Amino acid sequence: MRKPIIAANWKMHKTLREAENFAAQFPAEQDLYQQVDVVICPPFTALQVVGEALRGTGLKLGAQNLYPRDQGAFTGEISPLMLKDLGCSYVILGHSERRQILQEDNKFINEKIKSALKHGLTPILCVGETLKERKEGQTETICGNQLLGCLADLEKEDVSKLVIAYEPIWAIGTGVNASPEDAEKTIAFIRDFLAWQYGLETAEQIRIQYGGSVKPDNIKELMKQKNIDGVLVGGASLEVESFFSIVQGAV
Ligand code: G3H
Repeated sequence: MRKPIIAANWKMHKTLREAENFAAQFPAEQDLYQQVDVVICPPFTALQVVGEALRGTGLKLGAQNLYPRDQGAFTGEISPLMLKDLGCSYVILGHSERRQILQEDNKFINEKIKSALKHGLTPILCVGETLKERKEGQTETICGNQLLGCLADLEKEDVSKLVIAYEPIWAIGTGVNASPEDAEKTIAFIRDFLAWQYGLETAEQIRIQYGGSVKPDNIKELMKQKNIDGVLVGGASLEVESFFSIVQGAV
């Protein structure tokens, strides 16, 4: 039985004060957070205040990126050690916005995954296809290639620690979510792919999320799907009320 995992990706939103207010207002439902892992991923600038506010609530802290070195001359970058220091336990890697806008490729994401694992951070690895690729029937090829590249040289013990987020790019921030059945179909493919690469036991352990225009009114149908273990939420994670109702809808 895989524990559901709901993650908030705030992307480049919220000032310090706004982040602090969100964390202070988010319901501290310890019992609920025993049943579902809830991860808040603020921008780097707000990790400390949000981390402090979440302490003792059962809610978890995640980052949106890292640079795959422990320290050094890497101007503007943030290391996994720094994230651990701030209390992060998760890190989003390979998000399509970073792949598309910042030209991150599978090889670089693979380095980041190894670096996160080395420091005990759980990567939330994002994969997903563009609308053009979907229309060309390339969804499975694209997701399979992203997984192959991003997970290169990892042992199954490491892969089993990952969370994978299937985020079709055409569904991100568009209000057009994949239907629960479509999301399930690709996520089932991802699990089969993992079983083929790492064995059934490992594939059954890995939690796979759906991401893309998740809202309070579609969470229940998504979570009913056999292979969907949670969601990665962008826009609807910015308001306490909508994100909390997504969390409640996941159990
Ligand atoms: O990381 C989150 C995803 O990019 C989904 O964003 O919920 O705003 O569509 P969205």
